Amino acid sequence: MTNQIYPIGELPKIGEIPSMMHAATIRQERYGNPLKAFAIEEVPVPKVGKNDVLIAVMAAGVNYDGVWAALGEPVDIIKQNQRNGYNEDYQVCGSDASGIVWAIGENVKKVTVGDEVVISCGTWNENQEDILLGKPPMESVSSGIWGYDTNYGSFAQFAIVKEFQCYSKPNFLSWEEASVYMLTGATAYRQLMGFSPNKVKKGTPVLIWGGAGGLGAMAIKITAALGGIPIAVTSSEDKSAFCKSIGALGSINRKKFSHWGRLPDIKNQPEMKLWTDQARRFLEEFQTIIGKKQKPEIVFEHSGEDTIPTSIFVCDTGGMVVVCGGTSGYNADVDLRYLWVKQKRLQGSHFANPSDCQGINELVMKKKVIPTVSEIFEFNDIGIAHQKLLENTHKPGNMTIKISKK
Ligand SMILES: NC(=O)c1ccc[n+]([C@@H]2O[C@H](COP(=O)([O-])OP(=O)(O)OC[C@H]3O[C@@H](n4cnc5c(N)ncnc54)[C@H](OP(=O)(O)O)[C@@H]3O)[C@@H](O)[C@H]2O)c1
Repeated sequence: MTNQIYPIGELPKIGEIPSMMHAATIRQERYGNPLKAFAIEEVPVPKVGKNDVLIAVMAAGVNYDGVWAALGEPVDIIKQNQRNGYNEDYQVCGSDASGIVWAIGENVKKVTVGDEVVISCGTWNENQEDILLGKPPMESVSSGIWGYDTNYGSFAQFAIVKEFQCYSKPNFLSWEEASVYMLTGATAYRQLMGFSPNKVKKGTPVLIWGGAGGLGAMAIKITAALGGIPIAVTSSEDKSAFCKSIGALGSINRKKFSHWGRLPDIKNQPEMKLWTDQARRFLEEFQTIIGKKQKPEIVFEHSGEDTIPTSIFVCDTGGMVVVCGGTSGYNADVDLRYLWVKQKRLQGSHFANPSDCQGINELVMKKKVIPTVSEIFEFNDIGIAHQKLLENTHKPGNMTIKISKK
């Protein structure tokens, strides 16, 4: 350990660990708009425990969990993490990274100092009883998201992870490209491939909300790579054009409809009729794009309250609406009549198991999925990037932060 702090962009000799580092932190007194919530501070480099891997972060992808952490909603993440044993009164967010293995704990076997890796944000206790009994790790009581449910994520010069979070970095990708696909890619992969029998096969029609966003763009690319038919929803013609350029068969502009949000009172027939007319018109747009009277077998959801009623309505008999977020709100109405009569499934999904991370990494390695970096930001601009995400003013694809150079 050297008693030093290195300027952003510089690193010590490989394996040397400075005592302090630059990190973008969030503190409770700054909770609110990301622009103000993130600040650059000097903090201690985290200690490397027996099972830990210290990563020198090269680039850090920007994701929505940084927005939720900054807002302090729906969870006061600092309070939660202190309850779970972290001592710090600040949080270092960042749940996507590419970087170099800088140090390893004595029990670490699968990676070695100098390895170039991409980090998955799913973390858990491998010795947790439910995992030892065969539960998928993301369903374990010990599961959480690195950089959100744990401190010392990727918005710093160094980050702490477990060895099972490390995947080989595709050598043909830049650090920035390698930093943007694991969180959204593995989340989307699980949504599309993790819930049998509703998995993408050749010809599976998939409706994808927010097709130009981080998750949606990945869902389009994965669906297309697996032979399915991705049809996107966006809020502008520019974003629709982007979706088509990355493999969507077509795109629906949601601004042409106004039935978003909670359902009207189901007993109010005139109101319900107005709602159903719009939902039906939305389905007809989907069918015009696909060219037949087919409904989506999988509806890829994360927009939440505004869109779930429509997702349930348009989903095919025996199909699945698979949801991993609620950007527009959490009080999502489900008209149960459509759910049970047509035997649809509303499936929750949260990040990804190792097989999903492996799945997306293989697609990227084989160049079947190419990550889209929308914008590269300097370290000081982490707040600006998250503010854009909150205001939905970011460019299509995924944003990333440049941190260190090799
Ligand atoms: N549970 C998990 O593991 C997990 C993982 C990743 C993300 N998430 C969650 O998933 C959500 C999306 O993440 P992301 O990274 O894809 O964010 P993103 O890049 O901002 O993309 C989301 C897209 O949703 C669309 N959208 C926004 N408000 C909408 C509304 N009211 N109705 C319909 N569409 C709307 C926007 O597209 P248009 O304006 O073009 O329609 C936007 O591009 C976030 O809430 C995030 O927390 C969860």
